[in-house]
Amino acid sequence: MTVITNIEDLRILHKKRAPRMFYDYADSGSWTEGTYRSNETEFSKIKFRQRVAINIDDRSIASTMLNQPVSMPVALAPVGMTGMQHADGEILAAKAAKEFGVPYCLSTMSICSMEEIAKHTRHPFWFQLYVMRDKKFVSSLIERAKAAHCSALVVTLDLQILGQRHKDLKNGLSAPPKPTIRNMLNLLTKPSWCLGMLQTKNRQFGNIVGHVDGVDDMSSLGAWTASQFDPSLDWNEVAQIKKQWGGKLILKGILDSEDAKLAVAVGADAIIVSNHGGRQLDGAPSTIEALPAIVDAVGSQIEIWLDSGIRSGQDVIKALALGAHGTLIGRSYIYGLGAMGQPGVTKALEIIAKELDLTMAFCGVKDVRQVNRGILYPGSY
Ligand code: GLV
Repeated sequence: MTVITNIEDLRILHKKRAPRMFYDYADSGSWTEGTYRSNETEFSKIKFRQRVAINIDDRSIASTMLNQPVSMPVALAPVGMTGMQHADGEILAAKAAKEFGVPYCLSTMSICSMEEIAKHTRHPFWFQLYVMRDKKFVSSLIERAKAAHCSALVVTLDLQILGQRHKDLKNGLSAPPKPTIRNMLNLLTKPSWCLGMLQTKNRQFGNIVGHVDGVDDMSSLGAWTASQFDPSLDWNEVAQIKKQWGGKLILKGILDSEDAKLAVAVGADAIIVSNHGGRQLDGAPSTIEALPAIVDAVGSQIEIWLDSGIRSGQDVIKALALGAHGTLIGRSYIYGLGAMGQPGVTKALEIIAKELDLTMAFCGVKDVRQVNRGILYPGSY
């Protein structure tokens, strides 16, 4: 048995254990995957300033996100179809997050419904909303999120239309997988995944199926998105959503300072600098490249978080150094989930926490809330 020491180990195990179509769904970007790759490579270009002979005993990586205490400034990002990477994946990830003391955000496109998460965790979580054409349904999702005691609504703004991911089309991505010969042959090599799926009833899009008239099969995610997601979404609608929700509002998918200013104007509580993990506009900048201009534009007015490309605690601290107040991880924990269920998510969080703590210490800082550009090597960012 391999000793798991980093996120890459979890990725390799995830690839082995989950059906190919779901692993590919998680581990791909749109079109050439240029932005997907640059999210990681741009992080790696940034260097630290190593400092020595500074007392670095007694350190803390605890912080806050939206004034809530967090054991480290890293939340679990909303990820579609998490419950297809491992049976009951969203419940397991939410439990791991609760135990670790970090926020969990459930996707609209989850397999386990928000009611299931609320029932199994008895702990506040965030709900991520996709705005669809069916306004009655959007409104009912918001009311259900209130009833499930979600502590923040995360509205995703960068997926009015879907970026093309070649592998999903070629694999015929669907939840659950269709009983084709190709899928069946692949499933035969994934016995523990199959066993888990046989033991749960959560095998369809739980927030949607059974809640929208006439929708009892959403087999093709691509076709569903194209027909249901609302390309006409605009800031007026964001303002209406804010009004109906009435609680903490986080806007996800901001990559430009003009949009960041509009997010402030609409009254958001936080923004997530995100390119959707390189899954939407291929050719857009990496988030770590886009962050500094957004921090300059609105950093004094709103909490700024960053996702896309974080695979280590070093990446987290680079984002904090460049002005993010918090971060979110998607693939990094999904790899852990697909590899080993709840303990895998915990493992991913432990790996990132340890890397964050030690990197901070090597830079001569004892408290993560004190991290700033001073820890970065001049000229490398
Ligand atoms: C959306 O949830 C996606 O597939 O990136």
